[in-house]
Amino acid sequence: MKDVIIALDFRDKKSALTFLDRLGGARPFVKIGMELFYAEGPGIVRELKERGHRIFLDLKLHDIPNTVRGAVGSVVRLGTDIVNIHASGGIAMMEAAREAAETSGTQRPLIIAVTQLTSTGQEMMNEQLLIHGTVEEAVLHYARNASAAGLDGVVCSPLEVSLIKRELGDAFLTVTPGVRFAEDQKADDQVRITTPGQAARSGADYIVVGRPITSAPDPLETYLRFKKEFMGGIHAYTA
Ligand code: C5P
Repeated sequence: MKDVIIALDFRDKKSALTFLDRLGGARPFVKIGMELFYAEGPGIVRELKERGHRIFLDLKLHDIPNTVRGAVGSVVRLGTDIVNIHASGGIAMMEAAREAAETSGTQRPLIIAVTQLTSTGQEMMNEQLLIHGTVEEAVLHYARNASAAGLDGVVCSPLEVSLIKRELGDAFLTVTPGVRFAEDQKADDQVRITTPGQAARSGADYIVVGRPITSAPDPLETYLRFKKEFMGGIHAYTA
């Protein structure tokens, strides 16, 4: 099920709720990242769930398998819909995360892996991280590991979606930030960007959009435009 996820990159609950109140009755799928979660704690997840939002909790967990197992258990019990971990933690860590989600006693969220952060360039990856090859090769390798560990998909750049889908199949989910309208010249700090239409055509399952919606003069209208261009047809005006 394709959808547009709004990144709630706000410093506190008040700012996040003020923004969401501007969306009228719409209850979009939202992403809570470290900034908001660390400021407000688990209560922000419960509160937004109660208001009817689906939640992608973007905490990018990365630790020894046993610690990640415990952490995933805790975040799953909050009622999250998508959680993520770093693929660079290795297959055993990703398997521990999946097992924790499966045995948490609540509905299992989708678990996806961060491949390479979009802030990682090839030179930095080769020289500082000592990972050889191109970023694309590293992303694909991490995606294969995530699939082997039984995860549902990966976070990746929109430009890597078709490669991953070709290799790992259509059911393996791709969640992509870095999406802007064609006429929108302001890419902020995103380097590898694409449009919602191109993301849809490449096979992306979810796009994550922050500032183009949160900073828009009319965020509801902009959100619906993203939905229309990404999902088209019948879902166009279902907020
Ligand atoms: O404002 P913008 O649309 O650029 O926000 C994109 C969101 O996706 C931010 O919350 C950012 O942290 C997140 N993200 C990203 N690149 C990644 C992983 C997550 O931009 N590789």
